Amino acid sequence: METTQYKIGIVGATGAVGQELVRLLVKRVFPASEIRLLASPRSAGKEINYEDFTGTVQETAPEAFEGLDIVIFSASGGISKELAPEAVKRGAIVIDNSSVFRLDDDVPLVVPEINGDALAEHKGIVASPNCSTSIAMMGLYPLHRAFGLKRFFASTYQAVSGSGAEGMEELEKQVRAHVAGESLAKEVYPHQIAFNLIPQVDSFMDGGYTREELKMLYEGRKILGLPDLKASTTCVRVPVMRAHSMSINAEFERPVDLEKATAALAEFVGSEVIDDPETQSYPMPIFYEEKVKCGVGRIRRDSALENGLAFWIVGDQLWKGAALNAIQIAEALVERGLISAKVDSV
Ligand code: A2P
Repeated sequence: METTQYKIGIVGATGAVGQELVRLLVKRVFPASEIRLLASPRSAGKEINYEDFTGTVQETAPEAFEGLDIVIFSASGGISKELAPEAVKRGAIVIDNSSVFRLDDDVPLVVPEINGDALAEHKGIVASPNCSTSIAMMGLYPLHRAFGLKRFFASTYQAVSGSGAEGMEELEKQVRAHVAGESLAKEVYPHQIAFNLIPQVDSFMDGGYTREELKMLYEGRKILGLPDLKASTTCVRVPVMRAHSMSINAEFERPVDLEKATAALAEFVGSEVIDDPETQSYPMPIFYEEKVKCGVGRIRRDSALENGLAFWIVGDQLWKGAALNAIQIAEALVERGLISAKVDSV
């Protein structure tokens, strides 16, 4: 049987998320006849190899999108804003990892396991959510289906991969400098991140919340289709390499049955339950690097909320928080017949 093959571009291919995009396309055997690697002029000519795949990075420019069916943007909001319309103009569907289009009415914001149906409404651009939001949704959505989500409180423990390759390098360098007894250079974060944590992710907004904290509320409302959802979040950067963790306390419309809640989380395609106090088993970031599912544990009735549940959730920031969700969007577009290849059928 003939398989349609697609030409895919990755903007930001040399970055932390971009590298995972390449690896996931290969690992998940996405039907790609071409993976075009795009980055800044600094990286033009650089080779990227993964398993049988070899590609040379090109400079990102409007003409570089010619002939592509899908372009995944993972560089910066500014680059997405400027160049995503150029890719759409040339007939590609854009999957955007930045925040610039996420709340636009005519841009679906999609976590395929939750609101894949919204893909049918796309007008050329599909947005992938903020990393903490995607991971939080993997716990909140199955519980919402079971009991009806009313509001939640969350504290995040966010890995340095969320600041890109430079964030990961900064943690590594500071740890090495500390061990060598040298002074610690700060370039990415306003404070030392090694052996510390920073209760600020992104810039402060009116009201004292940070932009990252507000994303969880506004993006969560859009993904879950709950315009009245309430949420209060504190986002914290921690010295962990690439998996985000979150403590969430959620309140529901209907009484929460603990067994039913655990079953809902265990049966959901995007999550698994690791929860055994006797053996001190719970999800931890070191076990969630390169994992497709998010792990949920510490599930208990919330003692301060009516119809409340407290839980802990962990997921790979670079995968479900970014690259994997984008690839799952591409896969869903193909499965749902929402994309056609320009040069098809091999
Ligand atoms: P480059 O490596 O050439 O600078 P991260 O989030 O890990 O920091 O990665 C950011 C990604 O965005 C990198 O691939 C980086 O490429 C890319 N990038 C930065 N500036 C531009 C630009 N002006 N045009 C295209 N891609 C860019």
